[in-house]
Amino acid sequence: MLISPTQPFKESLAPFPPSPPREPILGHYRKLPLENAHLKHLEYVRKYNSDIVYFNVFGNHMIVLRWQKFANEILDKRGANYMDRPRFVLFDVMGWGLTLTFTPYGPRFKLPRSALQTNFIKSAIVNYRPIQEDEARQAVARILRKPADWDKSLRRFASAIVLRIGFGVVVKSNDDPYIEIATNANLATYPGTTLVDYMPIFQSTENEKAGVPNEMDMADIQGATASVFIAGSNTTLATTTVAVLNMVMNPYVFRKAREEIDSVVGLERLPTLADRAALRYIDYLVEETTGWRPLSPIGIPHKSLQDDVYEGMFMPKGTYVYYNTYAMSRDPSVYKDPESFNPDRYTPKEEGGDGEPFLVGPFGFGRRICVGRHLAQASVWIIMATFIATMELEMRVGVDGKPIEQNREDSAKIASRAL
Ligand code: HEM
Repeated sequence: MLISPTQPFKESLAPFPPSPPREPILGHYRKLPLENAHLKHLEYVRKYNSDIVYFNVFGNHMIVLRWQKFANEILDKRGANYMDRPRFVLFDVMGWGLTLTFTPYGPRFKLPRSALQTNFIKSAIVNYRPIQEDEARQAVARILRKPADWDKSLRRFASAIVLRIGFGVVVKSNDDPYIEIATNANLATYPGTTLVDYMPIFQSTENEKAGVPNEMDMADIQGATASVFIAGSNTTLATTTVAVLNMVMNPYVFRKAREEIDSVVGLERLPTLADRAALRYIDYLVEETTGWRPLSPIGIPHKSLQDDVYEGMFMPKGTYVYYNTYAMSRDPSVYKDPESFNPDRYTPKEEGGDGEPFLVGPFGFGRRICVGRHLAQASVWIIMATFIATMELEMRVGVDGKPIEQNREDSAKIASRAL
């Protein structure tokens, strides 16, 4: 089918990217999928024969990028122009408007982003290792005592880490009220025990000493710390749950991971994050979990600050940019059998693996890339390593004595509910 791209307003001669036909008044409103958006967008790509598809909903311009190359060229290389966010009305109404994920570009974005970034770069997260190792061991001890509650223990693990790091709050039970309180995290900053206390940029005295005006007010500080909980808790939980379910469905992966731990760490002690470099299969397992079903399959949209033309296509100021991470994970020129859960795809070819690259999209792109990605990967790594070192996994057996098959789509749904 031949589709003529919609002609933009007279300010640019370049056309918008190809798009489905528009309805009067509603524009593309009814074309935007509410469920499984990543799959529907792949259909549009095929139907309109374009890897960038354009939508216009009540005057808002939107594009969806199919390949990583576009995300790299637009969101990374031209990142300064694509660092704004659309307004997320629902989150504003919920009082989460100031959490970093939903903050538009501007003074309320810059300082909190740089403060969080400084505290979550690779070299800084080493400081959180004792918290991560301690919480992982507690979680595994709970699962050993009460295996049926494994998912509750993982939930507590995911929340406990970000609560301890963000607010200095130690979670005491699976039903700890702090888990609930922290969902209204704007209320829960505890002077003397929180991230605020460890982040120099938040400390007016430090800033004053350095002659830097302290431009963050209490709302910014609450927003930044709340982001750590809101953005970091369900995402970590969903990732660990999907990893466990995939290991149940792929006993070979579990066994291989266990053998690696037993041979490198031995049987006398538990793995720590210091072992990470020597336990690469666990790294591959974590990468495969985030890539197999990206938690945010079409990303969290960026918004452009100025008009732009990319490969002859016009993208006006204010365009919302989505990136189809799911499609990237299914790129046949990069990943051989993307549906199979196979950590060995990342093992270098010379070591007998497929030598495929890690997927970069699950944590986003450009200047809005996930601030907590290194922390998240370390958390998932340590809970998985501790879990694998201490557990045996078996399928549940039905009344007929046969194992009950785990539904793959259940784990996929868990993944896509997290963000
Ligand atoms: C496996 C776990 C996680 C996944 C898959 C994940 C994924 C994402 C994605 C896709 C984005 C949007 C990026 C973009 O717009 O390009 C994001 C943003 C963000 N994430 Fe994560 N995240 C995870 C864990 C965490 C953790 C543990 C923290 C906190 C310590 C965190 C803090 C944030 C923040 C603050 C933002 C907003 C950044 C901004 O808008 O400037 N995330 N995350």
